[in-house]
Amino acid sequence: MVQCRICGGPVDEFIDFGRQPVSDSFVTPETAGSEYFFRLAAGFCTECTMVQLIEEVPREQMFHEDYPYRSAGSVVMREHFEKYANQLLGGELTGRDPFVVEIGSNDGTMLKTIGRAGVRHLGVDPSAQVAEFARAEGVRVRTDFFQETSAREIAEADGPADVIFSANTFSHIAYIDSVLRGVDTLLAPDGIFVIEDRYLGSIIAQNAFDQVYDEHFYLFSVGSVRTMARRHGFELADVQPLSVHGGSMRYTIARPGRRPVSTAVTEHIEREREAGLGRPETYHRFAEHARTSCRDLVQLLTELRAQGRSVVGYGATAKSATVLNHCGIGTDLVPFICDNTPAKQGRLAPGAHIPVRSPEEFAKPYPDYALLFAWNHAEEIMAKEREFRAAGGKWILYVPEVHIV
Ligand code: SAM
Ligand code: TMP
Ligand code: ZN
Repeated sequence: MVQCRICGGPVDEFIDFGRQPVSDSFVTPETAGSEYFFRLAAGFCTECTMVQLIEEVPREQMFHEDYPYRSAGSVVMREHFEKYANQLLGGELTGRDPFVVEIGSNDGTMLKTIGRAGVRHLGVDPSAQVAEFARAEGVRVRTDFFQETSAREIAEADGPADVIFSANTFSHIAYIDSVLRGVDTLLAPDGIFVIEDRYLGSIIAQNAFDQVYDEHFYLFSVGSVRTMARRHGFELADVQPLSVHGGSMRYTIARPGRRPVSTAVTEHIEREREAGLGRPETYHRFAEHARTSCRDLVQLLTELRAQGRSVVGYGATAKSATVLNHCGIGTDLVPFICDNTPAKQGRLAPGAHIPVRSPEEFAKPYPDYALLFAWNHAEEIMAKEREFRAAGGKWILYVPEVHIV
């Protein structure tokens, strides 16, 4: 049995999506087939409850020069990060010469607000192309993986950090012990380490099986994050549910005794107990739901094709790699996917090799149905594409189950 990457306990495998490509490796027709494949399976640690992947993808296969994801692709996310940056500027960062570090700063969507306020900051991100976009926004970036060694160098060069922030990245890092030792080295005695990530409670409640993919090495809950923090000499001081990405959680971690511990922490842990997040049966049921969703989706797409209806994909998300490759959906069922990320357009989705086109192609002409892979941005995308509905088009969603709206 695989050992838990957090506590060494036994990991009970509950879902196996089979051979899957790296989810963000959008290939060209010439490089199609060169994707790195691995076995995508997830398990649950029966000791510390952390949900984690069974097989780790080498980090250089995922995060490199060509990593395409851009935080700025969503207006909702831009506003979300701007709001939090302003909250930090008005609170944690009001002392003398404060310093902020962001792990996984991507295109600088969060740090640009901090930088414009004249506050010392450093983004750390190994993906060179997205880091260039951040620099163009005036953000200072170190193109590197955050880990113990890089954290020590940052601490020596820039001094302690008052805030270390990391959104949708900490869960991507299997070698979390090195990262937490780095946080320990870099964080000021009274500093806070803030993580935002997709919330396991929402993933289970919504049967969002596509949240299982290479980059999501861990799926966090309040209970598992508190255990992890304590193992590394920290305390989980506060949690705040967030609506972004289909249900996320913001975790505020501090050194023990330095911050009051909010009652929200124990309240959420109690809710997680009631929701069965500590029980293996919950995860086995989730796997059963995933199988049903995949089967229903393929059946629906096959029926629509038989009826001569056209279907186009919307949002070439990393999540969609799990759905497309596990369900075996190819260009015969979904001829192309619209996506606003320049680095994905003109490329082929990993494994399934479905072409990605700009959203302008969506209306030329509108299809009968659009399969929304970016369901976590449903409100934003449906508002943007309201003409599609007005023209009689319908959206297909597969979370929490396959349905048409
Ligand atoms: N924080 C942004 C957001 O929430 O939109 C970007 C999230 S993106 C899904 C994950 C980012 O983490 C990528 O830009 C990737 O290059 C970066 N990353 C992966 N491993 C990292 C590490 N060890 N240290 C710093 N950044 C890392
Ligand atoms: P995410 O779910 O990992 O944030 O990825 C969302 C994908 O959907 C990303 O490739 C960008 C794309 N997208 C659009 O094409 N149009 C939009 O309006 C939004 C919000 C996202
Ligand atoms: Zn464990």
